[in-house]
Amino acid sequence: LGCTIYYVESIDSTQKLAHSLVQDGCPEGTIVVAEEQLNGRGRLARTWFSPKYSGIWMSVILRPTLPPKMSPQFTLIAAIAVVQAIAENTTLHPEIKWPNDILINGKKVSGILTELQADSDKVHAIIIGIGINVNQKQFPDELKQIATSLFIESGKETKRSHLIQAILEKIETYYQIYMEKGFAPLKLLWESYAVSIGKDIIAHTLNGDIIGKAIGITDEGVLKLEDQDEKVHLIYSADIEIQS
Ligand code: BTN
Repeated sequence: LGCTIYYVESIDSTQKLAHSLVQDGCPEGTIVVAEEQLNGRGRLARTWFSPKYSGIWMSVILRPTLPPKMSPQFTLIAAIAVVQAIAENTTLHPEIKWPNDILINGKKVSGILTELQADSDKVHAIIIGIGINVNQKQFPDELKQIATSLFIESGKETKRSHLIQAILEKIETYYQIYMEKGFAPLKLLWESYAVSIGKDIIAHTLNGDIIGKAIGITDEGVLKLEDQDEKVHLIYSADIEIQS
């Protein structure tokens, strides 16, 4: 990964540029990295605060031959890579909150946004957007309660280039394992970093709230939630609120 890197000082969104590079036929492994995003995109049409020189705002383009339904697993693969890269480059031990939040002390330090270009049966490209709050000293008032940075948590600056390198190496390793053996060998690893598994949660879905215990993920990366009648719900997309 990263043989072709587009490095830009300022951009609306690295995801947007990545989408047009895909349309222009860029090779697998192309990376877009920006110092600042003016319109960083989060999951569920939210914005992603991406100030200059303080974070990692990056998109990674993969071109696996897979059916589109496998794409959520790439969010989980990227999350493993980000958690491990942070753990290796700092004294911190982040946790994953399904599907795409990376937390330290309960606050969000990183988010992953996986987008697709695909037909109904074939993926053309998977664009993994990774945002990490690295060296921010503070956050705007509206984010203070929910967001944090590696600097705030560790008291030390982290070199962003080292983190990027570690993340790319790890995504490459896990991508290879995934393409050879599927998600099963990575599921346990993901679950070992997951904060939500085994906890009582509320899943806020588009069709309403479901309350129960998060009991794990499927081989496709779908969250399994057991309600009080022991019925297991498969959660494909939701915001998760952890209760205990
Ligand atoms: C989320 O937690 O909602 C996902 C946030 C993803 C943010 C990253 S930053 C790089 C890439 N470009 C974007 O516009 N968004 C992703």
